[in-house]
Amino acid sequence: MSTISALEALKDTHRKTWASGDYPSIAELVTDVGASVAREAGVRAGSEVLDVAAGTGNAAIPAALAGAQVIASDLTPELFVAGRRRAAEAGVAIEWITADAEDLPFEDARFDTVLSSLGVQFAPRHEVVADELVRVCRPGGTIVLGNWAADGYIGRFWSTMGPYLPAPPTFASPPPGWGRVEHVEALFADHPVELTFTREAVRFEDASAEAFLDMFADRYGPLLQARAKLSQDGRWNALRDDLIALGTEMNIATDGTFAVGSDYLVIVAHKAA
Ligand SMILES: C[S@@+](CC[C@H](N)C(=O)[O-])C[C@H]1O[C@@H](n2cnc3c(N)ncnc32)[C@H](O)[C@@H]1O
Repeated sequence: MSTISALEALKDTHRKTWASGDYPSIAELVTDVGASVAREAGVRAGSEVLDVAAGTGNAAIPAALAGAQVIASDLTPELFVAGRRRAAEAGVAIEWITADAEDLPFEDARFDTVLSSLGVQFAPRHEVVADELVRVCRPGGTIVLGNWAADGYIGRFWSTMGPYLPAPPTFASPPPGWGRVEHVEALFADHPVELTFTREAVRFEDASAEAFLDMFADRYGPLLQARAKLSQDGRWNALRDDLIALGTEMNIATDGTFAVGSDYLVIVAHKAA
C-alpha cells in the first residue's frame, strides 16, 4: 500500500473508532481540560478561535462563552451531533467543520487562538500537526493544548494498550509523545513559538478499578475497538487485567472504591509577533 493510501486508511479507521462507543459521555468526564485550555489561552471577546480535534466542544464551548467567534473542527463529524446540542444548551453559536488536524482547511494566520483539548495528540503525524497549528495561528497569537501526560493515568493507559494493538504504520507516532515536554519542545523547535508547560489533573471515580475499566471499554472508542479485536484471539482478558492493575496501582481512594487523578500537560505556545 502506498503511504497516501495507508494514511487515508488509518484516518478512516480513526474516524470510525472515535465515532464508536459513546465518546460524548466520556467527554463529560473531562470538561475541566477544555475549560482549563480555554482559560490558559485568555480567550477574548471578539477574537477568532479554532478548536482542533474538538469532539463535542470541550474547549470550543468555554471559548464561545468568553465571547469569541469559534470554529470547532474534528475528523469525526458524528461527534458534532452532541456538540451542537451542548452548544445550544450553553447558549452559544459555534461553527462545526469536519477537518483533519494534519490538513486544516484554513488560510495561514487566520486565528488569534488555536486550542486543542485531549485532541491533536491522537493524530498520527505529530510534526505535521505542529506545523499546521503554527500555520493557522496569527503572529502574536496563542496555541494552547491539553494533552494526557505520558506518565499520567490515561497516558500510561495508552502505553499499556500499545503492545496489544497492531503495529502502527512507520509514519505514525503514538499519542503519549504529545504528553512529554521534550517531545513537544522538539516538535516546535523550528517554529517561532515560546513554550510554557504546566500540569493539571482530572479525577476519575467509580465503584472499583474493574467497574471503571468496563465502563470505559463500553464507551471509549479506542478501548471498545481493542476489546472487539482482542476478544477474537483470546487476548482481551490479558489487556483488561493489565489495565485493572494500572488502575489499582494508581488508585488513591481510601474507602475501597476507585479514584485516580489523571495528569495532563497544558502547553502554551506564544507565536512571535
Ligand atoms: C479524546 S477525544 C477529545 C475530544 C475533545 N477535544 C474533548 O476534549 O473531549 C480525541 C478527538 O480527536 C479527534 N481526532 C483524532 N484524530 C484526528 C485527526 N487526525 N484530526 C482531527 N481530529 C482528530 C477524534 O475524532 C476525537 O474527537
